[in-house]
Amino acid sequence: MAEPVVDAEYLKEIEKARRDLRALISSKNCAPIMLRLAWHDAGTYDKKTKTGGPNGSIRMEEEYSHGSNAGLKIAIDLLEPVKAKHPKITYADLYQLAGVVAVEVTGGPTIDFVPGRKDSSQCPEEGRLPDAKKGVSHLREVFYRMGLSDKDIVALSGGHTLGRAHLERTGFEGAWTKDPLHFDNTYYVELLEGDKEGRLKLPTDKALLGDPIFRRFVELYAKSRSIV
Ligand code: HEM
Repeated sequence: MAEPVVDAEYLKEIEKARRDLRALISSKNCAPIMLRLAWHDAGTYDKKTKTGGPNGSIRMEEEYSHGSNAGLKIAIDLLEPVKAKHPKITYADLYQLAGVVAVEVTGGPTIDFVPGRKDSSQCPEEGRLPDAKKGVSHLREVFYRMGLSDKDIVALSGGHTLGRAHLERTGFEGAWTKDPLHFDNTYYVELLEGDKEGRLKLPTDKALLGDPIFRRFVELYAKSRSIV
């Protein structure tokens, strides 16, 4: 694990914010949208140009108004009181911490949190996040640009064990799993079970079954919740 690049006082503030985030996320049942916010701030990263990434830039209207970020202003606004209470903490750290807490409070694994991200007000151009209507080669193109692997693509897609799509936000509707407020490996189990009444599968989710490398990881993760 990387060493924290922040001082002891900042670390203390992170622990306080963590408690506030737990209370907020549990009381509002908003874990899914918090995880999506953390991912959308991070998922614009371009390893070649070292631009985008988890730098809090999604707080800017220029970026949260991108089509792929529809609905995420709700999460940004919910986090404002936590930011106001802990002004030292950067938006970049706060959004990632909210993602970490979202996974934890819904029963997922404990994730090491390394603080120290800087805020940026430079927004990446629209179109860096994956398009749900596309397939295998698009997924690889987008995630490889971030410096991630085939295994990472399948593991990260498991984020859809939480939450649901909203017709008015993205044109898709429904949840991926039976209990969208519980973090486990059900996403993979349900993906292998195929189409089911009342369950969502995006074209990019289905793409994970059509590629032999992706499919091997889906099958592995469907078998055990502890393999990552
Ligand atoms: C693989 C490419 C991905 C595509 C194409 C994609 C696309 C989508 C779409 C279209 C929605 C519906 C949003 C709405 O209508 O409210 C959604 C929701 C969601 N996504 Fe993804 N996503 C991807 C990867 C990820 C990753 C890597 C994570 C986190 C690790 C993630 C976490 C979530 C969560 C938690 C929701 C539910 C949000 C809510 O309930 O409000 N997604 N995603």
